[in-house]
Amino acid sequence: MSNVLSAKPVVDKNINDLINECNLLKSKGVTPYLKVILVGDNPASVIYTKNKKAFCEKIGAKCDIIKLSADIDEKDFLNEVENINNDNSVHGLLIQLPLPKKLKHLDVTTLVNETKDVDGFHPLNVFELYKGNKEDKILAPCTPKGIVTLCKFYNIDLEGKKIVVVGRSLIVGKPLALLLMNYNATVTVCHSKTKNLKEITKSADIIISAIGQEGFINCDHVRDDKTQIVIDVGINKNNDNKTVGDCDFQTLSNKVKAITPVPGGIGPMTILSLAQNLLQAAKKSLYP
Ligand code: GUN
Repeated sequence: MSNVLSAKPVVDKNINDLINECNLLKSKGVTPYLKVILVGDNPASVIYTKNKKAFCEKIGAKCDIIKLSADIDEKDFLNEVENINNDNSVHGLLIQLPLPKKLKHLDVTTLVNETKDVDGFHPLNVFELYKGNKEDKILAPCTPKGIVTLCKFYNIDLEGKKIVVVGRSLIVGKPLALLLMNYNATVTVCHSKTKNLKEITKSADIIISAIGQEGFINCDHVRDDKTQIVIDVGINKNNDNKTVGDCDFQTLSNKVKAITPVPGGIGPMTILSLAQNLLQAAKKSLYP
């Protein structure tokens, strides 16, 4: 069995810093406040937003989930977003994705004001990443930021490493590739249309899968020498309604040096990053 890179010790190590920072901000009259917009009742989104609220409250921040009907008019939805953008008591705004059909055409990257953009989706925040900044200086997308935090905790050095990212989404794959390059990693981005994926993943020091498909990465994608590290971003439901990742954990864990579990791996790291971004945005409101 290889090393299991669980989020729990990482979150346990960071949570006291977050509580202390939150208390400091409160002592200066600022209570970090996140608003989460949840449109419709996608079961996974309901659970994710509840987890986000619970974590914010655990560190002493305020969080409200604004529940809107899946058939809300576009105008009313945009009004709600604008009101929160203009509310100085709110430091972070997150629009939970996916949006329902009726709002799917909207460009979510520009809806939230860049100063409240705790998801790190806004073009101005993405440009900070593009320019070479690391996650501690900017509002960086939460999952890429969480992956770097996890690697730092487990002393996984990124510099000069060959990292293969599988998935090219706006939320994970693309910003992750930029952030890893900012740590001097050599990054290859693969996706569902990549040819010879197995050869490419076999040549990696670190494989990061964010493709959203159960069992997408298996024993055939790794070498036999137990030197590779696998980071699994996927959160999928299997036939038994169990939460599983993109990677076949059972078989891979005998073939690689270290692997993140699902659940209990990158999911909680994403929430930790969200709380860090919220405090960063709240601090900036105090010291612009
Ligand atoms: N849905 C799944 N992951 C995310 C995320 O990181 N941010 C938002 N806004 N929605 C999501």
